[in-house]
Amino acid sequence: MRFILSMLCLLVPLVSLAEEPKTIRENWQKHCKKCHGDEGEATKIGLRLKSPENVYEEAQNKAVEEILETIRDGKNKMPAFNKKLTEQEMNELAVHIEYSSLVKKVLDKRERIQRELKNIQRDYKVLPECENGL
Ligand code: HEC
Repeated sequence: MRFILSMLCLLVPLVSLAEEPKTIRENWQKHCKKCHGDEGEATKIGLRLKSPENVYEEAQNKAVEEILETIRDGKNKMPAFNKKLTEQEMNELAVHIEYSSLVKKVLDKRERIQRELKNIQRDYKVLPECENGL
């Protein structure tokens, strides 16, 4: 029994040393931030390599499969990541980009609508009590 316990003590640190799967955020910070910034906006290095000004905007018209292909195989000056990331990690990043690009699309659209509404209110002198309609 004592032997088993001491074996367990040896095993526990070994188990906790096993590599934990990296989160999307960790992988973004480690592999993508250098060119695509914290929030998808191109850094100086990124701009020099002709990466899109905002990668989330660029991804708005792309299918998740295309994004995955860019990450896996690289594209022009963007390096391939198939040796640095697992298929699962690349998939998660592609889905994250697709999702963030949709959120950005919705927020941008909302901003445009609010601006248009303000113009209408100004031009047609809409009564103040209508102003909080949106
Ligand atoms: C060394 C700079 C660099 C790094 C690091 C980098 N990219 Fe890029 N990325 C680029 C460039 C340059 C382009 C523009 C490619 C083109 O269309 O010519 C690009 C384009 C993209 C696009 C645009 C969509 C498409 O399919 O064309 C996506 C999405 C993207 N990168 C995701 C990522 C992700 C995710 C990572 C991290 C795993 C990453 N990039 C790391 C330079 C980089």
